[in-house]
Amino acid sequence: MSHLLFTPVTLPTPDGHGLEVGNRAFVAPMCQYAVDATDGVPTDWHLSHLGALAAGGFGLVVAEATGVEARGRISPQDLGLWEDGQVSAHARLVDFIHGQDRVAGVQLAHAGGKASTWPMLPGFSDVTVPAAEGGWQTVSAVDGPVLPDLDAAAGLTEDGIAQVVASFAEAARRADAAGYDVVQIHAAHGYLVHQFLSPLTNTRTDGYGGDLDGRSRLLREIVAAVREVWPDSKPLGVRVSGTDWVDDGLQVGEVASVLRDLVDAGQISWIDVSSGGLTDGSTIPVGPGYQVPLAVSVTDTLAEAGLGQDAAVVSAVGLIEDALQAETVLATGQAHAVSIGRAALVNPHWAAQAAAELRVPRSELPHAPQFFRARF
Ligand SMILES: Cc1cc2nc3c(=O)[nH]c(=O)nc-3n(C[C@H](O)[C@H](O)[C@H](O)COP(=O)(O)O)c2cc1C
Repeated sequence: MSHLLFTPVTLPTPDGHGLEVGNRAFVAPMCQYAVDATDGVPTDWHLSHLGALAAGGFGLVVAEATGVEARGRISPQDLGLWEDGQVSAHARLVDFIHGQDRVAGVQLAHAGGKASTWPMLPGFSDVTVPAAEGGWQTVSAVDGPVLPDLDAAAGLTEDGIAQVVASFAEAARRADAAGYDVVQIHAAHGYLVHQFLSPLTNTRTDGYGGDLDGRSRLLREIVAAVREVWPDSKPLGVRVSGTDWVDDGLQVGEVASVLRDLVDAGQISWIDVSSGGLTDGSTIPVGPGYQVPLAVSVTDTLAEAGLGQDAAVVSAVGLIEDALQAETVLATGQAHAVSIGRAALVNPHWAAQAAAELRVPRSELPHAPQFFRARF
């Protein structure tokens, strides 16, 4: 049986060479809340978690939301790249992933008004960590809570915005120093960039609010600043929420047009299409592959502008759980790659197992040679 899932895909790069990824099963970034020292430095847990996914056959292994500023962490236990002292521990993760012949990515993030929350682990509630217990004042597009259960954020001034943009660029420089091959800017799930993109949370009246041009300005400035320092030999990606799933929220057509312009400018070449994060989620039609149509909208908008896979790779994510489902998404042209989240937590060997199910010859299964005798 022919298949696309275990066919290489090239992420375009400004230097024209592109970066080949061995297969189209990507790891979706997943916070581990495992930095007990709260210093943003990767631990053995991250090596074990990401290392298993690399050994298990995923083509692109993406490290979790990594704070570009300490105040940009979702929880105090998140990874960071806000200072040089964090680089060498990231390099250890990258070295292992490279040792498995995989491509290493990192998601650069600022949680804005959804920062300073407790880790999403058993026993913790979904509210802001008080300052007395290690929390901090959060920032967003405007003053006020981003979600009802969170403490009020402080609206960023234009100088504050410039600082955030510079922080993304500095973190990208450190990601390069650590050896990461791909950076993904987190513009999804209700975090800072999404807080600016969405009319639900951005009611600014200056040049960073109002129409789509204003609301997308922060993203566009971050992309431009990161692209300045991120090598031309390396692809830059963006993860978006394709929709807020409410009538007065961000719509997929808006998101797609912003992305089209960034691709057209040659600044980004990988788009991962997720959704939601700024509501209670009650209107989200959660089900198998429920976000795939959003990836299709983005792919179609790019195609209408003559921008195909040689300009940007679009990956679909969200309840894509088994090999045939993933292969169907690719074979029907709905996306060029798939990102796998929770199914990869259940089974770090998801990719190798999927390859076996798609009848990839045993000698070509994408797992580490040490697992040669595994009975997939
Ligand atoms: C434990 C956990 C942590 C997550 N952390 C992140 C994150 O750091 N960044 C992000 O963009 N999405 C994060 N997500 C969302 C996943 O990347 C993914 O989009 C989501 O789980 C849907 O895909 P799935 O159905 O394959 O799990 C997280 C999800 C889980 C389950």
